[in-house]
Amino acid sequence: MRVLVVGGGGREHALCWKLRQSPRLGALYCAPGNAGIAGVAECVPVAADDLAKLLRFAKEQAIDLTVVGPELPLTMGLVDRFAAAGLRAFGPTAAAARLEGSKAFAKELLRHAHVPTAFFGVFADPDDATRYVNEVGAPVVVKADGLAGGKGVFICRTVAEADEAIDELMRRRLFGDAGSRVVVEEFLEGDEVSFMALSDGTTVVPLAPSQDHKRVLDGDQGANTGGMGAYSPTPIVTPALESEIMQQVIEPIVQALAKQGTPYTGVLYAGLMVHDGRPKVLEFNVRFGDPEAEVLLSRLRSDLLDLLARTCEGRLAGETLEWDPRAAVCIVLAAEGYPGAVERGRPIDGLERLAGWANGTVFHAGTRIDDGRLVTDGGRVLGVTALGDTIDAAVTEAYAAVDQIRWPGMHFRRDIGHRALAAERKDGQHGGA
Ligand SMILES: Nc1ncnc2c1ncn2[C@@H]1O[C@H](COP(=O)(O)OP(=O)(O)O)[C@@H](O)[C@H]1O
Ligand SMILES: [Mg+2]
Repeated sequence: MRVLVVGGGGREHALCWKLRQSPRLGALYCAPGNAGIAGVAECVPVAADDLAKLLRFAKEQAIDLTVVGPELPLTMGLVDRFAAAGLRAFGPTAAAARLEGSKAFAKELLRHAHVPTAFFGVFADPDDATRYVNEVGAPVVVKADGLAGGKGVFICRTVAEADEAIDELMRRRLFGDAGSRVVVEEFLEGDEVSFMALSDGTTVVPLAPSQDHKRVLDGDQGANTGGMGAYSPTPIVTPALESEIMQQVIEPIVQALAKQGTPYTGVLYAGLMVHDGRPKVLEFNVRFGDPEAEVLLSRLRSDLLDLLARTCEGRLAGETLEWDPRAAVCIVLAAEGYPGAVERGRPIDGLERLAGWANGTVFHAGTRIDDGRLVTDGGRVLGVTALGDTIDAAVTEAYAAVDQIRWPGMHFRRDIGHRALAAERKDGQHGGA
């Protein structure tokens, strides 16, 4: 099969790396890709949201399957446009991608399908939103309805903070039209978990559970980021909780979308808050998480190309996935200033020392070749991903690899996996695995 991957981050490097292992793979292209992806796929200089150029390329190159990494081309209707041209693409249609593209749509569907989630209101008028906040009190969460690059959610400790958030989103339009409506919802406490499943429209197959670290600093402090690290599996998601999530969250949502004539095809990502062993949905994403994809694809033993093709063809029934029993941990190495503005073009040293690394892979998130040298080219630069018999062993292996790499201004968290490690060690004391 001739395959095109759309995107150019760590997730797309992991997708290309895993697709490359498939015996069914013919040619592999990635648009736009990055310096690491160039080692496993042919990079094509087309932006991930340039649907017209992507479609032309796929036609010209007779691409059999296009795999879409990021959310933007999905919400813009890449899959619909490819389907109209007779081309197959992995991911939801624009109508189904509203699950991520509109938080109001997602919340209303959750309510309609009786899926547990924080109680909420949706508002198009800032005065109504303010009145609601005064009624329910703080703490409260204010969210832009539309895509805001992971910056449209405000956790407000006071009513005044919530008023300020409403003002920024709705009156000052900090994120443009994404703030024409807001969701105001109950603040939930608990442990955050990422749960992903493949859906072919009717059949759903769970992927291994994982957790990520959103905050930039150790101890989950500082600004929110796209993700500073991830690990899988997680002790919080027991087999019992996994089946509860499938039955109470994933299946009802996929059924509801099918029933309203907009079936969901692709990977469905539920961001969950688990409290007292009960899951509640924080949000949906309509693609693989990043850096969750790096740890999941490192653990996946099944043929990814086969799985993605079956998903597109509505042939997931009877499918079960094979996983490496080892744990995987990904440490994100970020550029100075991230998650704010960053300077690009800093030369990266030390990767050559990891060339024959047996227990892990360095996925590139933001790199390019400049004058024959590997340099930084984004906020998140590398995702150092290691396998180990326990989370503890994987963490040790990953940080040993991180120690080999440096560039001016590089920063990363030193406590990735800390919650799982605490659980693992407690378990160990009780004589468990
Ligand atoms: N109702 C809530 N209660 C507590 N924390 C929340 C709530 N909703 C969101 N959060 C926190 O804010 C983060 C971002 O919110 P999310 O809904 O995932 O939006 P996005 O990823 O689009 O920015 C979550 O990962 C979570 O840590
Ligand atoms: Mg999120």
